[in-house]
Amino acid sequence: MELKEAVKKRRSIRSFSSQAVDKCIIEEIISDALWTPSWGNTQPWEITVVTGDTLATFKEKNQRAATSGKQPNPNIPMPLEWPEINKRRYQDVGRRTLKALSIPREDAKGRLDFYNQMFGLFGAPVLLLIAVDKAILLEYSMLDAGLFVQTLCLLAHERGLGTCILAAAVQYPDGLRTLLEIPDTKRIVIGVALGWPDHENPVNLFERARGSLNEFVHWVE
Ligand SMILES: Cc1cc2nc3c(=O)[nH]c(=O)nc-3n(C[C@H](O)[C@H](O)[C@H](O)COP(=O)(O)O)c2cc1C
Repeated sequence: MELKEAVKKRRSIRSFSSQAVDKCIIEEIISDALWTPSWGNTQPWEITVVTGDTLATFKEKNQRAATSGKQPNPNIPMPLEWPEINKRRYQDVGRRTLKALSIPREDAKGRLDFYNQMFGLFGAPVLLLIAVDKAILLEYSMLDAGLFVQTLCLLAHERGLGTCILAAAVQYPDGLRTLLEIPDTKRIVIGVALGWPDHENPVNLFERARGSLNEFVHWVE
């Protein structure tokens, strides 16, 4: 697959088949992603691969916490406010997602079911949890972790696998720490759901939007 095709065709996958992903494929993808650049080659990412019964337990706990209205307490605070343009884009993708699933805005139960699926990682058979040491400067380690995650997603896509980067996986880090034995010295950054995409589900097929070049680029010549 051409790099440009991988970049342009990768999509967040929100419905997975139940088929397992071979351990050796996961290892190869992560091993290739280790070539991601990082500040001073510090390679701050630490990856916990969660599958099987432990993943099932995590999904259940994560869903229970979210639906019980438990206050999220992520290590990386969630943005609460955006400038208007970013807010519009955020709301737009939410609308497109629910429309693809034929969930009308006023269907509170339908929306709740969708959020429940999200906190259950959309049925993905693998969770890749990314952490960095708290002793590393937050801003740079976030840049490095972000680069790593994108490389990982593209490499997975190249193999026909689907990914969804999920802040929803790390809203309750205390439970994750206990279940996965992640020490308090680590900052839990983000989760990536991984699995074989369900190519029939419209939630994976709707059109995604991007702004045009001139919305982002300022030339100084
Ligand atoms: C840091 C980060 C956190 C995200 N968290 C979630 C999430 O919790 N739930 C979700 O459905 N998608 C999540 N996404 C996926 C974005 O919604 C998605 O990348 C965006 O809408 C663009 O769509 P695309 O990935 O299909 O191009 C996240 C993406 C990033 C980069």
